[in-house]
Amino acid sequence: MHAIETRGLTKKFDALTAVKQVDLQVAQGEIFGLLGPNGAGKTTFIKMLSTLSEPTEGDARVWGHDIRREKDAVRHDIGMVFQDPAVDDRLTGRENLDFHARMYGMKKTDRISRIGEVLDLVGLTDKAGELLRNYSGGMKRRLEIARGLMHFPRVLFLDEPTLGLDPQTRYHIWEYIKGLNAQEQVTIVLTTHYMEEADELCSRIGIIDYGSILVIDTPEALKNTLGNDLLTVKAADLDALQQAFGNESWVLEVNRFDSSLVLSVQQGEEKVPLAVNTAQKHGVTLTSVSVRKPTLDDVFLHYTGKSIREEDVSEKDQIRGRMRMHGSGRR
Ligand SMILES: Nc1ncnc2c1ncn2[C@@H]1O[C@H](COP(=O)(O)OP(=O)(O)OP(=O)(O)O)[C@@H](O)[C@H]1O
Ligand SMILES: [Mg+2]
Repeated sequence: MHAIETRGLTKKFDALTAVKQVDLQVAQGEIFGLLGPNGAGKTTFIKMLSTLSEPTEGDARVWGHDIRREKDAVRHDIGMVFQDPAVDDRLTGRENLDFHARMYGMKKTDRISRIGEVLDLVGLTDKAGELLRNYSGGMKRRLEIARGLMHFPRVLFLDEPTLGLDPQTRYHIWEYIKGLNAQEQVTIVLTTHYMEEADELCSRIGIIDYGSILVIDTPEALKNTLGNDLLTVKAADLDALQQAFGNESWVLEVNRFDSSLVLSVQQGEEKVPLAVNTAQKHGVTLTSVSVRKPTLDDVFLHYTGKSIREEDVSEKDQIRGRMRMHGSGRR
């Protein structure tokens, strides 16, 4: 049995198709990442799998349960950490966890021992008695993850687990996520628009854009499918160069950015002199040439024709980050 299996899963909001015909299988014990820009359909997809949103078309099973017909069974087997904070600022860490466990009907002795375990998993044992309003953003996020684990879920959905957090805190949360995946054997499905997060955490990644999953594979395989090195060249006259490189047989692909061209080539180092020659032939002087291996950002560019660079989303992140730090968590 797969932890998750979807067939043609689709969600439409009037004219907009937020999730389009997604076929996906996630194995037990995987950390699967859905990587895509703002509005790609990541949250909508996760909401359908966690029974919070009814699919328009298609089917899915989570831990063997049908998401349309066996909602209670699905809910029993999943934990969910939402994109926006959902913990109560006026309660302590321990009280938040206890409240959640009561809603799941856990007995008192079970609650006490499980609270101890999950606090330990996210490194918050020392802070359990502190009011949430005194937690940092990263601590709140960890408590939310702990809460999602309280009732021993088989599958944990994490919607943008490190959104709006600083790089160091993000790195710590990655360590906790890896640890709980290993120790609790919980299957994890996370969404992110951070390339490094997907690269670091996920056993496989699905790249999603405009509701469609364009490709699914391991981070390594995705980078290797590009197969090539990338040569970044800068010069004053990029128009002339773009055309010139487009005509060279050793250039497999040319992508244009504001101030540079990125050429996809084999054996990058050996192509540096060729790049210089080509530019000279067309009377253009290169101001810089550099060689690098493909990143997931390049993979994203290859499949979607656009970059998912963080500046595109940073403003939204900052707003959400501020909301999180100031704790709008009374729901
Ligand atoms: N309840 C809704 N009603 C109408 N449109 C919606 C609703 N929820 C989402 N959408 C639209 O569906 C699309 C996908 O949204 P979704 O929230 O799933 O994206 P996302 O990938 O999670 O983005 P982000 O990275 O910003 O969280 C967007 O165009 C969004 O505006
Ligand atoms: Mg979202």
